[in-house]
Amino acid sequence: MSTPGAKPITDEEGPLFQLLRQLDLSPDASQRQISSAIGVSLGRLNAQLRAAAEAGFIKISERAGPDRRQRFAYTLTSRGAAEKARLTDRFLARKFLEYQALHAELTGSASSYIPPTDRNRLMQNYLAPIPELFVSYDSAQKLKVEAGDLVSHDLTPRQICDLELLMNGGFHPLKGFLSEEDYDGVVENMRLADGSLWPMPITLDVTEAFAEKIEIDQDIALRDQEGVILATMTVTDKWVPNKSREAEKVFGADDDAHPAVNYLHNTAGKVYLGGPVTGIQQPVHYDFRARRDTPNELRATFRKLGWRKVVAFQTRNPLHRAHQELTFRAARESQANLLIHPVVGMTKPGDVDHFTRVRCYEAVLDKYPASTTTMSLLPLAMRMAGPREAVWHGLIRKNYGVTHFIVGRDHAGPGKNSAGEDFYGPYDAQELFKQHQEEMGIEMVPFKHMVYVEERAQYEPNDEITDKDKVNILNISGTELRRRLQEGLEIPDWFSFPEVVQELRRTKPPRSKQGFTVFFTGFSGSGKSTIANALMTKLMEMGGRPVTLLDGDIVRKNLSSELGFSKEHRDLNIRRIGYVASEITKNGGIAICAPIAPYAATRRAVREDIEQYGAFVEVHVATTIEECERRDRKGLYKLAREGKIKEFTGISDPYDVPANPELRVETENVDVDNCAHQVILKLESMGLIAGH
Ligand code: PPS
Repeated sequence: MSTPGAKPITDEEGPLFQLLRQLDLSPDASQRQISSAIGVSLGRLNAQLRAAAEAGFIKISERAGPDRRQRFAYTLTSRGAAEKARLTDRFLARKFLEYQALHAELTGSASSYIPPTDRNRLMQNYLAPIPELFVSYDSAQKLKVEAGDLVSHDLTPRQICDLELLMNGGFHPLKGFLSEEDYDGVVENMRLADGSLWPMPITLDVTEAFAEKIEIDQDIALRDQEGVILATMTVTDKWVPNKSREAEKVFGADDDAHPAVNYLHNTAGKVYLGGPVTGIQQPVHYDFRARRDTPNELRATFRKLGWRKVVAFQTRNPLHRAHQELTFRAARESQANLLIHPVVGMTKPGDVDHFTRVRCYEAVLDKYPASTTTMSLLPLAMRMAGPREAVWHGLIRKNYGVTHFIVGRDHAGPGKNSAGEDFYGPYDAQELFKQHQEEMGIEMVPFKHMVYVEERAQYEPNDEITDKDKVNILNISGTELRRRLQEGLEIPDWFSFPEVVQELRRTKPPRSKQGFTVFFTGFSGSGKSTIANALMTKLMEMGGRPVTLLDGDIVRKNLSSELGFSKEHRDLNIRRIGYVASEITKNGGIAICAPIAPYAATRRAVREDIEQYGAFVEVHVATTIEECERRDRKGLYKLAREGKIKEFTGISDPYDVPANPELRVETENVDVDNCAHQVILKLESMGLIAGH
């Protein structure tokens, strides 16, 4: 029987595949047991073991103990594990094609049968298991010990999300972090070097200092933030990417207003490492464990439930009645079961936290007809890349065993660019998905914009309402909902479920009861501390919430005494202030910060940290450098002019003027009390303090 499309394992690879598989399955077996398991003589096995060790696929070590027959232990190295995974894939690919051809022959469809070149689609049809990058439990235990000698990279939260999906097959067909060749293909035309569709660069970014320590072909250990080893990686590629090109091609613009572009330039390391990954264990999650499934677990669930068609709904927001109606209709129209598949990895900064969302989803799940719908949590780190992101989401869902995918208006949209315009057209994502859906093997269900028709007391797709002039159409936008929640206003029953509203209110009390941060920035001597002190006193007089002042000088004495004024040290100083302020804000207090904070990117990072928990009010104390120098309260400007203080902000060091602060105060000819009062009025207008 001919099996076009899949490369067979060659004569040389066959025995190696068998050997690696056997050693992975039972690493403690004796030579005799191994030779009988793979059906070769002891002599031949010895030669094979030596060859595999020379090629770096296995490690042979002496074993203590009295049993002469078990003198040696054989462990797969990470390179060996990667080779085993590669050969397993080829083996499976060939078997699937053989199976498909046989099936076609038996069912008489052979004449019209076109052999697929893509194994995924076959697996999709039959919900067969998908390849993972994990080694067996026993090998993992050994690798863990071995990896003690390897150089370690501590993964960032985003890299942990990426690694989890690489290892569990969610990012199939990727075998690890992208090589340079794959990266170039993905950036330029959404394809890996072998031609497979893949729209998103999955890269391991590291600092220059770390990259310098790493040689090509070196194995490194990938660890979580507590130092637990999750995987090893053989570094095959190391390069300095052109980040502007990546931003332009992948995200559509090199504009820091895009969260992923901002991440690329201001958070990601300068150097990328690529190479195959050997999975040791999944990242540990303590939350909602019963709701977390790997692709294979979800495939098994669908098999068990007999769900042949499944439509997935991707979301990073709480579900309201419109979503429920929409998802239910999508399932009915495509005659499929429904999977609510929310992202709980990383979403857009400022989103409702996933703990709250999952409690909301649980409440909504009860509203669907029994046994039509399930929910599973996806540990994905979103990039908000609109059209490319939609295709990426589709490929991931296909790996999870899903057949249909809902794509809405402005799918995974990042919001406005720095010119105040949308990054992508509202239906760009649907367009791109449509172009590729056949190749992906997953069908798009376009999102219908659902609105509430008051007269009929039900949700209907906006474009299907024929009597628009006779009925009252109601809708509450996301912004309006946030306003109502912030101000404690009514959220009508037609809009959401009482359980969901209650949950949202519980997490986000009205703004006047939440914590917040006032962040003053400006030159030394601009009056930040004086206004901050006056503000603190006024807020304490009002009472209700504890107030903490993190003044520049106080912080430098208590938190940052070892730091100087280089860019690196200033950033560290501001990040520390941001961290403390975010904790205060999270716990319902008021943090007032008053550092110079000269760098816009750092101020933005702090804003993002804090806005997860409450408002961030940036106040630019806009006293000119000339005026500050004229006042020269501490005599520092004089010293800076004389060159006795180096890197002095405004004199010999830069200051990025805030482009859009919540408030800008001028201090020339205005007294301190008035400046502090301007801040109070701003806080009042933002709903942060209740009116008197
Ligand atoms: S930063 O840039 O935000 O980390 O600075 P900050 O922590 O606010 O510290 C600023 C205060 O340190 C004194 N000082 C300097 N300022 C700027 N540049 C240089 N090189 C420098 N050296 C010392 C100065 O008194 C600042 O105080 P403020 O309260 O801003 O007047």
